[in-house]
Amino acid sequence: MSVNIVHLKNLTQANEEKGDSKENVSGAEAASQRNRPVANLIDRKNESIYLDSPATTQCDKRVFDKMAPYFCDFYGNAHSKNHVYGWLSEEAVDVARKQIADLLGAEEKEIVFTSGATEANVIAIRGVVDLHRYSKKRSKIHVITSAIEHKSILNCCKQLEEEGVRVTYLPVNHDGLIQLDDLKSAISEDTVLVSIMAVNNELGVIQPIEEIGAVCEERGVAFHSDITQAVGKMPLNLRSFPIALASLSSHKIYGPKGIGALFVRKKPHVKLRSIFPGGGQERGIRGGTLAVQLCVGFGEACRLLSCEFTQDFARIAKLEKLLIDKILGNIPLAKLNGSREHKVPHISNFAFPFVEGESIIIGLKNVCVSTGSACTSSSLEPSHVLQAINADEYSIHSSIRIGLGRFTTQEEVEFAIDKLVVAVEKLREISPLWEMYQDGVDFSAVNWAQT
Ligand SMILES: Cc1ncc(COP(=O)(O)O)c(C=O)c1O
Repeated sequence: MSVNIVHLKNLTQANEEKGDSKENVSGAEAASQRNRPVANLIDRKNESIYLDSPATTQCDKRVFDKMAPYFCDFYGNAHSKNHVYGWLSEEAVDVARKQIADLLGAEEKEIVFTSGATEANVIAIRGVVDLHRYSKKRSKIHVITSAIEHKSILNCCKQLEEEGVRVTYLPVNHDGLIQLDDLKSAISEDTVLVSIMAVNNELGVIQPIEEIGAVCEERGVAFHSDITQAVGKMPLNLRSFPIALASLSSHKIYGPKGIGALFVRKKPHVKLRSIFPGGGQERGIRGGTLAVQLCVGFGEACRLLSCEFTQDFARIAKLEKLLIDKILGNIPLAKLNGSREHKVPHISNFAFPFVEGESIIIGLKNVCVSTGSACTSSSLEPSHVLQAINADEYSIHSSIRIGLGRFTTQEEVEFAIDKLVVAVEKLREISPLWEMYQDGVDFSAVNWAQT
């Protein structure tokens, strides 16, 4: 990807030198000619380090190489049964499906391709609800989820509420964990689905999904989990515990964007009412022509994870220890949001009281981190996840998420820590709240809602 952007920049410069007219260059190139800041951004990108892997990951070059032939050479429709182009594409999709299934401890037939985890989440939740609503004609339907789910789940549930479905949002404790007793007491005879994410995308906290699956099995309720941030970040075997449905995404695991999957258990058989029946592809659950090159990339990304998970995990766990120990040790009052014990090493969320998260990010300049999930980081709304863990008011606005991944080096982590120490120190020098704190003002007595 960076190769292409650099290529674009070089091309733009070359065209400018040649005096090419705007008509002779592509739209993107023209944009970069018109808007010089694009070139500035590319320079800035090349000088920056990327610590935002929960938002997305770089497509691994090995994945990209596997995908390349499927754009212009092996371009057959995988659903064309009458000729060699179709057969070759079908074969490539079958291989990819097996690679994904193998990583998850699933069977090929249990993998349904989607455009990403957002779509997989909606197909799963609506699929179960609609089955009960339209096929089984049940009038009372209840769904249980948690207060810290990804927006793709929360917004889907919000729409279902508008349609008359009852939804319970389980609270989490200060560590970010749901309580099994809360789940048990929320389940009623109307409950058709429990949807709880495996790993939270803002905190990295791991929910007890095996125990949740056991409770759901005992009470005869389908269990869906959004495992998007768990895949490749913790050991995961969907065969080893009762889970009906699971959503995942390729671009979080060094695969291409625009593809994901829904695991739909075969034994016992999980039924869904399709919201995209299309031409009956993907077992009739998700119609539409498959993007073969994306399937191939997703499959290869999973194969690489199957081979490299253990060594990657150990390396990233070491980097996480360095990151957390140094930040907590060198920045006064710094806190890790959520559990340290029950978390994946790839995601850490810190609060730096008395400075704003947004200001820290500006201060970090060439260190790319975020204040929360990518889909909400553009809004100034406080994070629903930090609110749910009952973070104090002055931590909610002073938190940043740091992501580590396959391509993160120790030098990058050390560089980021040094920049962070300086940025927080500088911002506190000009923070009246920090001054008040140092003067001994008791902030626990302040009612922030009224200030
Ligand atoms: C936990 C979680 N679920 C779902 C999604 C959505 O994934 P996709 O971008 O593939 O739609 C994300 C991405 O941010 C995520 O972190």
